[in-house]
Amino acid sequence: LSLVLPNFGKYLSSNNPLLNCTTSYMRTGQSSARPLCLSHCGLSSRNISTTTDYPEFKDLEEIKTHDNLYKFSINKPEVFWSRLARSRLTWSKDFTHVMKGDFLQGKMEWFTGGTLNASVNCIDRHLKTHGDKVALIWERDEPGTHSVYTYRKLSEMVGKIGNLLLKSGVKPGDRVAIYLPKSPTAVATMLACARIGAIHSVVFAGFSADALAGRINDAQAETVVTANQAVRGGKLIELKKMVDSAVTRCPCVKRVLVYNRTEAKVPMGKLDIDMTKATLGESTDCPVVQRASEDTLFMLYTSGSTGSPKGITHSTAGYLLYSNVTFKHVFDYRDGEKFGCVADIGWITGHSYVLYGPLSNGGTTLLFESTPVYPNAGRYWEMVERLKLDHIYLAPTSLRLLLKSGDEFVKKYDRSSLRKLGCVGEPLNHEAWEWYYNVVGERRCDIIDTWWQTETGGVCISPRPSELGAEIIPGMPMRAMPGIKLGLYDSEGKEVKGETGEGALCICQPWPGMARTIYNDHDRFLKTYLKPVPGVYYTGDGAHRHKGGYYQITGRMDDVLNVSGHRLGTAEIEDALDDHPDVAESAVVGFPHDIKGEGIYAYVVLKDGRTLTKKELEKQLKALIKSKIGGLALPEIILFTPSLPRTRSGKIMRRILRKVASNKFDELGDTTTLSEPEVVDFIVKKHKELT
Ligand code: WTA
Repeated sequence: LSLVLPNFGKYLSSNNPLLNCTTSYMRTGQSSARPLCLSHCGLSSRNISTTTDYPEFKDLEEIKTHDNLYKFSINKPEVFWSRLARSRLTWSKDFTHVMKGDFLQGKMEWFTGGTLNASVNCIDRHLKTHGDKVALIWERDEPGTHSVYTYRKLSEMVGKIGNLLLKSGVKPGDRVAIYLPKSPTAVATMLACARIGAIHSVVFAGFSADALAGRINDAQAETVVTANQAVRGGKLIELKKMVDSAVTRCPCVKRVLVYNRTEAKVPMGKLDIDMTKATLGESTDCPVVQRASEDTLFMLYTSGSTGSPKGITHSTAGYLLYSNVTFKHVFDYRDGEKFGCVADIGWITGHSYVLYGPLSNGGTTLLFESTPVYPNAGRYWEMVERLKLDHIYLAPTSLRLLLKSGDEFVKKYDRSSLRKLGCVGEPLNHEAWEWYYNVVGERRCDIIDTWWQTETGGVCISPRPSELGAEIIPGMPMRAMPGIKLGLYDSEGKEVKGETGEGALCICQPWPGMARTIYNDHDRFLKTYLKPVPGVYYTGDGAHRHKGGYYQITGRMDDVLNVSGHRLGTAEIEDALDDHPDVAESAVVGFPHDIKGEGIYAYVVLKDGRTLTKKELEKQLKALIKSKIGGLALPEIILFTPSLPRTRSGKIMRRILRKVASNKFDELGDTTTLSEPEVVDFIVKKHKELT
């Protein structure tokens, strides 16, 4: 066993204070005292129907309940997934094999021999029957403004952009970096890439020029698609300027397509193509490039515990099927409903539940360009009333922020259209859960706390789907999705058996939606996900299994931070800080934060002989992080210290740094074995002064 379980126990035993409330409530033996039995919700929770929910299994007597279906999916994955693949997706050529490979080999293949195209699945196949149905509702940043795009209109946009990409020289397998605000153009560009067989790599428009350049170079993208400006919370963001600065460091870039989100004129250079003008003369009819099932549909960068962000790559067929099936069943999405996932398309949530899941189901999906507090804390709920959204899917951090603004912002709007309330990205703490359920949902709607990752492609754990009236317990995503076999492992890599337990959360059987590799670095893929516990997929999260087999996530076990639901590696932030000429070294840790879930705390050691004041330095360090990564990585606290606590062998004691940052001074443990124990006293004293 080559066990590299990092920082095992960082968050185990419910060290995460956001979870304590739920955990203690669970631990006082009341877990069954207040589960919410939602049988009164009528239609919103029902027994499985193989006629309406899963017609693929109508002939199978043994499947009558979700529990039956789950067991079937685990015992007969090939039958389960192949039936769904053939009925839910449209293929240009049927597949010959359902699944090949396993976690030990580190190479998984699904539906080989088959060919299909994701844009055909998301658009063309809906045109005949419902071309005039609304595909996208674009809720612009400007409050109260929205516009709708039918499937036909979207198809025309995709055709024109696809033709422009083809004409510009983009070929199947080429990477296209997309740095766009959430807009119909962004969705159409992603689908245009899929149509012509190019691989999209969307970079969140909040990342800096440096971060963008790193991602463009890693992917060797020849094409960048951006906008003149972005608008967010009433502020203008100079996207094109950022791209100009990034591209000077990216010799691979041959063209930059520029969409005009605003009226502002921006300087255009020799690589730049005005997308609005250039698409005018293009045909709406773009030829389809059929892709093999395992061809990469897209890549998306995400943070790991070490090194630079990794380009997670997803397959065409497996990913599309998994986002399609999970979208329909997790949210119980029904024809005609409006689904409101407010995540940006720069994150996996935007890929799976703004674009691929909803559109491959022929649904209506929201593109929310603004922020939850612009112009005020009522933005989401005013939008729900105006657009009559049936579903909203958001991040716990926004709930924590909004609940502080009081109930009036919610209550003044009619939310009766809402049927399901989803969330993702971080643990949904008890207070936020109750507020979501009682105030936002008026105790009518299921709360669907979904656990998943960029790497899993779609939701793996969620309270729904489940049986009629089945309980939903606050503070945990609870149930494994069909096809997802979960397991907990201890620090020695042994499975934690029994109904209840605690350990590293792993997925024990391949599923179609899982990432296939890290772009250009398959070894890193194996090392990160498949080698820590041989034979299973290692998620990097810790979890608690409660009575009933329900899962509660306790948080990351590695040095990945989760700030407002955004993944950030401590190493990336340290690299940015260390770039300052006055910084000798730094250590970044997370600490519990009321709204963000986790805040960033940086310990910085300065070189001798510097001339700047600490105040000036702090300003420069923040500016450096902003330019290297983006505003989302700014530390809450920077503590300057003459040195860092280390073991005698020289390893930085992050555990101690985390405890100090979390005010847990009585949990520092034995510090006498450190090489300079007195540094801990210094840090504690300084921390108390700063906070
Ligand atoms: C965390 C987001 C608790 C987790 C889709 C995971 C959660 C990381 C939940 C992935 C949840 C996501 N409860 N923690 N419901 N959902 N996480 O790749 O630590 O941006 O590993 O994907 O977010 O973040 P990513």
